Amino acid sequence: MKEINAGRPPIHEVGLEELLRSACNKGVLSATTDARPAILDSEVTLICVGTPTVDGRMDMSQIVAAAKEVGAALVNKRGYHVVAVKSTVLPGTTEGPVKAAIESESGKRVGDGWGLCMNPEFLREGRAVEDFRVPDRIVVGATDSMTAEAFLRIYAEFTCPKLVTTPRTAEMIKYVSNSLLATMISFSNEIGNMCSAVPGVDARLVWKGVHLDRRLTPINGQVVGPAGVTEYLWHGLGFGGSCFPKDVAALRSFGRTVGERTRMLDAVLDINADQPLRMVALLEKELSLSGKTVAVLGLAFKPGTDDLRESPALPLVA
Ligand SMILES: NC(=O)c1ccc[n+]([C@@H]2O[C@H](COP(=O)([O-])OP(=O)(O)OC[C@H]3O[C@@H](n4cnc5c(N)ncnc54)[C@H](O)[C@@H]3O)[C@@H](O)[C@H]2O)c1
Repeated sequence: MKEINAGRPPIHEVGLEELLRSACNKGVLSATTDARPAILDSEVTLICVGTPTVDGRMDMSQIVAAAKEVGAALVNKRGYHVVAVKSTVLPGTTEGPVKAAIESESGKRVGDGWGLCMNPEFLREGRAVEDFRVPDRIVVGATDSMTAEAFLRIYAEFTCPKLVTTPRTAEMIKYVSNSLLATMISFSNEIGNMCSAVPGVDARLVWKGVHLDRRLTPINGQVVGPAGVTEYLWHGLGFGGSCFPKDVAALRSFGRTVGERTRMLDAVLDINADQPLRMVALLEKELSLSGKTVAVLGLAFKPGTDDLRESPALPLVA
């Protein structure tokens, strides 16, 4: 907490330190571990605690604990307060356990001085500052229109599309967005593995050729450039990090709870689990690793971060 208030971020990202220092110096940002004064002195609370997947299911303990803290602080709150869930949570969580925890701790029903909404976070780790400044969309799932309007005031300056919907739809949008990108990565790895098994096929050129489809690489006058989505259509070690693996696993288990089979999501996770071992097999084939010392540069799950969570490089060195 001291470090943040001194303008020193606990995580690495280009531009983050300057931004944090400037906000602290201007007095527009301060960190505290005491939710009560923070909630009494503000109009909006964003809940963005971790929602890890444990044994294939979303663990709600942090989000419920945070909702209880918010509820306890709302007891003495005067003036309308909006609580927004920013964590990635399965459909029904905001209107279910989160609402129930706040109502029981505050003694106030939703709408009685406070509103509830779900505002999924789409920023990419390592590019959070840039993504926050230039969002592609803002999704707000609110329980009523007054809350949606009050909440959207914090995004008044942004001109990107703003989608207002129900909390459950907003919750689903986040899982579908991450699962689609993870699916593209596993598809790319399946194809990349197949290409490397065929003499004379250069997987890198296969992807370049695919990327040049005008639906993936828009033609804009003389300028031809790849859309961001092509970053996910490229073979490699598989996806990692704190979001894709846990979110695909949570959506898969959610599918089962609503009685739907998840054959695609099963395959996406299966391919991803095997992919780091493919790299070892490839090295073994080309170099014969026995008795060799191998230096591995970079263990983070992707460039631009220092985050090792679920990094596919870890099973490679283990
Ligand atoms: N990391 C990303 O790039 C990213 C992107 C989009 C969405 N998300 C979602 O955002 C959520 C948080 O992700 P993260 O990677 O920042 O997780 P994280 O585990 O790194 O950070 C969560 C933080 O919340 C703190 N915390 C837990 N309970 C608290 C409480 N009651 N009061 C105050 N603080 C509390 C934890 O100590 C931790 O520092 C997850 O649901 C994730 O899926 C993350």
